[in-house]
Amino acid sequence: MRHDFCPGYPAPYDALVTDYPDETTYPYDSFRVEWGPIFHRGRLDGSARVLVIGQDPATEEDVTRRILVGTAGQRVQGLLTRLGITKSYVMINTFLYSVYGQSGGTSHLKDAGIVAYRHQWLDTLVEHNDFDAVITFGTLANEAFTAWAATPSGQVAALYQAALLHPTYPESAAASGQQSESSAFRVLLANWNKALPGLGAAITHTDQPATLKRYGYTFKSTDYTPIPEMDLPAGLPTWMRSTELWANRTGRTTDDKRATLTAAVPADLRAW
Ligand code: URA
Repeated sequence: MRHDFCPGYPAPYDALVTDYPDETTYPYDSFRVEWGPIFHRGRLDGSARVLVIGQDPATEEDVTRRILVGTAGQRVQGLLTRLGITKSYVMINTFLYSVYGQSGGTSHLKDAGIVAYRHQWLDTLVEHNDFDAVITFGTLANEAFTAWAATPSGQVAALYQAALLHPTYPESAAASGQQSESSAFRVLLANWNKALPGLGAAITHTDQPATLKRYGYTFKSTDYTPIPEMDLPAGLPTWMRSTELWANRTGRTTDDKRATLTAAVPADLRAW
């Protein structure tokens, strides 16, 4: 049986993944540098029409080595599907490594080394693609993109941007006690619904007709789109692209938990 796979990092991206910031730029007290950098997901062959900017990688991404693969990624993939984009996209995160602790992201967003490397990626992507739109997810991604948009290359590109709430906003808002999860889902999906017409008008090159179907008050199972096989390194099993959670940080102590990732085949996907 034939399989699609992500071919990796062709020129000029090979230079970006050869020389990337380490713990001297991303300090251990604010980032999970020990799990390595995770650079992107999607097309690096110049065919991307939509640029997605997320925040930072989570557990599933640590294993698959591509960003926005877990719950957040499948919600984003579902939004792209509504916009008629099934393959012509590329995604990067605001941060190369998972944020560790509450304020790690906010306090390092504008660090010179972090910004410089992020701008190298944005400059390269914009030079080699013809983007119809940029979608930023969350405050930090919006601020990161806004800072780049003010640079000379950002001003020349003058890209259409939709600044959306982060796909896991409901879980974060509920965990911080700001609001109930159900009301936060309503807020998130109202925010995404509002952006649909503008994005629909901006994205003139789609892979299939856009439906621009409005979301309800919460995500339905059909609002999640599994991650395409062509986005992940060769040979990854199908369950790693499924809409189920399969990776967790586990351990008795804070230190063990930071050091340990448990990946398990979801119970209903055990074919043996
Ligand atoms: N995973 C990512 O890669 N980025 C996010 O913003 C969230 C989860």
